[in-house]
Amino acid sequence: MKEQARAKARQLAHEFIQRGDVTGWFEQLYTQAQGNEQAIHWADMEVNPNLVEWLDRRNIQGKGKLALVVGCGLDDDAEELARRGFEVVAFDIAPTAIAWCQKRFPRSPVAYVVADVFDPPSAWQGSFDFVLEAYTLQVLPSAVRSRAMASIASLLAIDATLLVICRGRSADEPPGNLPWPLSTEELDVFKGAGLRQVHSEDYFDQEEPPVRRFRVEYRRASSAEN
Ligand SMILES: C[S@@+](CC[C@H](N)C(=O)[O-])C[C@H]1O[C@@H](n2cnc3c(N)ncnc32)[C@H](O)[C@@H]1O
Repeated sequence: MKEQARAKARQLAHEFIQRGDVTGWFEQLYTQAQGNEQAIHWADMEVNPNLVEWLDRRNIQGKGKLALVVGCGLDDDAEELARRGFEVVAFDIAPTAIAWCQKRFPRSPVAYVVADVFDPPSAWQGSFDFVLEAYTLQVLPSAVRSRAMASIASLLAIDATLLVICRGRSADEPPGNLPWPLSTEELDVFKGAGLRQVHSEDYFDQEEPPVRRFRVEYRRASSAEN
């Protein structure tokens, strides 16, 4: 079922991207799913283990901190951050995904919001202590990723942390099919946007078959460091 759903998503993405619309297919996919999470191949309906491992290892405490989840999908990750004490805003371009989250977690403290990473609310600029980007950049064509990355970087407060989790590839490897893995060179846009890379991991995850992942932590430098 997941493979069928993935094939359908690829076809839909291809049709929209051919027409020059790089994000329209997400809402279409969520709408067509009609509430069946099996039709959304990235929806594991559990917290991303690559996030949990990082949070546990770094013993991250969210009390008094504001977190933002980029492209939250049907998100369990935002709920996990809220459980760990963060005040959380989670956004997605697809209104149906946001409505789905609100239905899944009716008593959630998370603010689920429809927004576009290419044009986020101006009030969000420089506002968040922690930003999570998991698996959204890899479903955006490479031609628009730099713009998305610069926008994400602009949302971090001074000293804030950005955690990026994505499929990884070497620069000389072809990106293949959607989801398109990122190279470390592509991720360097974050450095150009005023972030310092604090830690970077390149590993194979526990999925079957294992997937090569990059998990990279960035910090917005304080003005004294600039
Ligand atoms: C591959 S899914 C990942 C969802 C979630 N982060 C997860 O790990 O399960 C990518 C998500 O990004 C959203 N998205 C795509 N383009 C976006 C944009 N421009 N602004 C906000 N969200 C976007 C999609 O609607 C989709 O829910």
